[in-house]
Amino acid sequence: MKKISIIGSTGSIGRQSLDVVRSNTDKFKVTAISGNENIELLYEQTREFMPELVAIYSEKQALEFKKKIENDSSFKGVEIMTGLEGLNAVAADSDSSMVITAVVGMIGLVPTIEAIKKGKDIALSNKETMVAGGEIVSRLGARIIPVDSEHSAIFQCLNGEEMESVEKLILTASGGPFRGRTRKELLKVSKADALRHPNWEMGRKITIDSATLMNKGLEVIEARWLFGIDADRIDVIVHPQSIIHSMVEFKDKSVIAQMGNPDMRIPIQYALTYPQRKEGKGIESLDLLKAGRLTFEKPDCETFPCLKLAYEALRLGGTYAAALNAANEVLVEQFLNDMIGFYDIPHYIEKTLERHSSAKEPGIEDILAADTWAREFVKQQIAI
Ligand SMILES: NC(=O)c1ccc[n+]([C@@H]2O[C@H](COP(=O)([O-])OP(=O)(O)OC[C@H]3O[C@@H](n4cnc5c(N)ncnc54)[C@H](OP(=O)(O)O)[C@@H]3O)[C@@H](O)[C@H]2O)c1
Repeated sequence: MKKISIIGSTGSIGRQSLDVVRSNTDKFKVTAISGNENIELLYEQTREFMPELVAIYSEKQALEFKKKIENDSSFKGVEIMTGLEGLNAVAADSDSSMVITAVVGMIGLVPTIEAIKKGKDIALSNKETMVAGGEIVSRLGARIIPVDSEHSAIFQCLNGEEMESVEKLILTASGGPFRGRTRKELLKVSKADALRHPNWEMGRKITIDSATLMNKGLEVIEARWLFGIDADRIDVIVHPQSIIHSMVEFKDKSVIAQMGNPDMRIPIQYALTYPQRKEGKGIESLDLLKAGRLTFEKPDCETFPCLKLAYEALRLGGTYAAALNAANEVLVEQFLNDMIGFYDIPHYIEKTLERHSSAKEPGIEDILAADTWAREFVKQQIAI
């Protein structure tokens, strides 16, 4: 029985992780979970999985949650914590050997580092952790099994291979809901248009990141640190069907690709059972005849400048990626609040990179400071 804890159990990845556990109750036990706003779902999850510890980031929601359970004896023994302390406890202190990092945003960085320091295996979904703090996290020498479908694909393609024989990594991108559209057509798009992803059901932030192609940019940075490979050996190719989840080209020009239906339970389960593979219960087989033609296109970096900006931040090094990530988090939130337009996102990220100055060989304090600086800078620029 493998004991796992999940930071962000109420989100898209968190819920799908619990689906995998639900289909494999003989293999996994959930010892700790966390949420932020969605306490109704957290309540249901607590009732079903009976973890020892539940963290609710929002103090206000934690009070509501406590009220809900105080007269119910079946919750006796469940410890409730709040804030970052609560997230850290779920990740690092609970009785689990593996942590699924399923929170969205930079908030995942510190709990992930705490968990690594406690020797836990990480099933890494929270890509912002690697974008902002990848260099530090990779130096800690953790056992990280990626959950992001592209990185899981690469991880699987590299199984048993030596990094010296790798020519390049090829990340596939669906192209998002605006693939093929022109800049002019995108000037007036709404959040409802941007939230309509063609292939994946995901949280709101990553869905907007997919529409701007920033998601692929963040994944390039994540891949750089996960696999220790330079930016100029990481390619992106648009593959609208999302059947090939990514590829590795080797020095002998052989290419290995990993395929499957677009269903996040596949990489989640792989991370949980690695190095073994177990039956994918309730998961559909890939039917290539039904999938039809698999097509490929060059990403359009003029219409979607965020991808280019992410490569630039990665090449600049230091805390530039942390600043890019922080600016993007603020701007996506404001786009979702209908406060800014689609192209304000790359515009203000570019300004952030222009104005940022990075510490040399940054430590965690420098990264957190760059994050704070970029958030403040962008808020001033858009006057909120
Ligand atoms: N969804 C996917 O298919 C997918 C695929 C690949 C990678 N990822 C990555 O996985 C991560 C999670 O994505 P998602 O789509 O699952 O996001 P999501 O559906 O928005 O869920 C986010 C989770 O984080 C919690 N959360 C939000 N703000 C928080 C805060 N300030 N403090 C503590 N917890 C907070 C949410 O709690 P409440 O809901 O209770 O507020 C929820 O549990 C992201 O980094 C994303 O890039 C996702």
